[in-house]
Amino acid sequence: MTTSAHQRIEAARKRFGSRLAILGHHYQNEAVIRHTDFQGDSLELARKIEGLDAEHVVFCGVYFMAESAAALARAGQKIHIPHADATCPMADMAPAPRVEAVLNELNAQGRKVVPLAYVNSSAEVKAVCARFGGSVCTSANARVMMEWAFQQGDAVLFLPDRHLGDNTANLMGLPQSQRLTVGIRPGQPAADADKAARARLLLWPGSCAIHHALKKQLIDDIRAAMPGVKVVVHPECPPAVVKAADSAGSTSHIIRYCAQAEPGASIAIGTEVNLVLRLAERHRAEGKTIVPVKTMRCTNMAKTTEERLAELLDNLEAAAPLSLPAEVAEQSRVALARMLQICS
Ligand code: 13P
Ligand code: SF4
Repeated sequence: MTTSAHQRIEAARKRFGSRLAILGHHYQNEAVIRHTDFQGDSLELARKIEGLDAEHVVFCGVYFMAESAAALARAGQKIHIPHADATCPMADMAPAPRVEAVLNELNAQGRKVVPLAYVNSSAEVKAVCARFGGSVCTSANARVMMEWAFQQGDAVLFLPDRHLGDNTANLMGLPQSQRLTVGIRPGQPAADADKAARARLLLWPGSCAIHHALKKQLIDDIRAAMPGVKVVVHPECPPAVVKAADSAGSTSHIIRYCAQAEPGASIAIGTEVNLVLRLAERHRAEGKTIVPVKTMRCTNMAKTTEERLAELLDNLEAAAPLSLPAEVAEQSRVALARMLQICS
């Protein structure tokens, strides 16, 4: 009789006991998430690492999240990711050498430009941020961290998600005239010197293709089709979408929004569909109708399957853990620790 992936995973969890912890991001599918010891948004997952005693930490999410876990892990702790190709394409839009070159150019003009990287960025980029006196943020603390970054210098370079940067600046009331999108093509200037000298917020031109594709028209359509519906979206969506929604925030914010809604409420959600379907199921008995504004699927999150998790756990002792070059680990930890300390 063949053993199912489900049985192999549960057998490994028994075998390893407290030596193993499985963490999962809210976008993971149900077959994976049911095996996790802890689920969270990017901030909660990063916070969780510091208190974990387990020798093996299996991170079900995308690569940058596991990298952050590796940077924050204690000595001897092994961080594993079931599918190393599960990358975040937005993180790949900001290669570290380009970020460093743009920062050098902007700072050469005499002003202090402080980098603030969304955690959806590589460990190398986080290390660059640490070297330039900056830090990182998640969608859950972007405003607090942007306010902090403004206090550290004359201007902030926010990367790689221009929508999260714009949406956060909107919350802070920063005028459009003080924002500037930088050029990132090698061999071309990052910005016109005069414009850069006037800008307080410099935005990297990256975005999440999945959230970027959510258009305001879809919110108008769903409001017409479901009178009284409340709309909650992730702040990686374009500013016009965030403005048209009733609320915007991290995946944990979206979860709380659904939990706090009155019984019988109708809620349309603009984020990855695995989370939307889980919330629809969780709150069905309370008479809440929860639907996606649009079916948005992160194919990279989906690379972690139950079978893939089982394969990793079958041979966990022999598996090579995620390893960062010592300097990158050290410096990215500085950037992450700054955020965790500011937002403690
Ligand atoms: P959260 O930090 O809100 O969980 O979001 C992570 C992410 O990748 C959203 O696309
Ligand atoms: Fe990256 Fe977008 Fe997937 Fe989030 S949903 S992990 S930002 S590609």
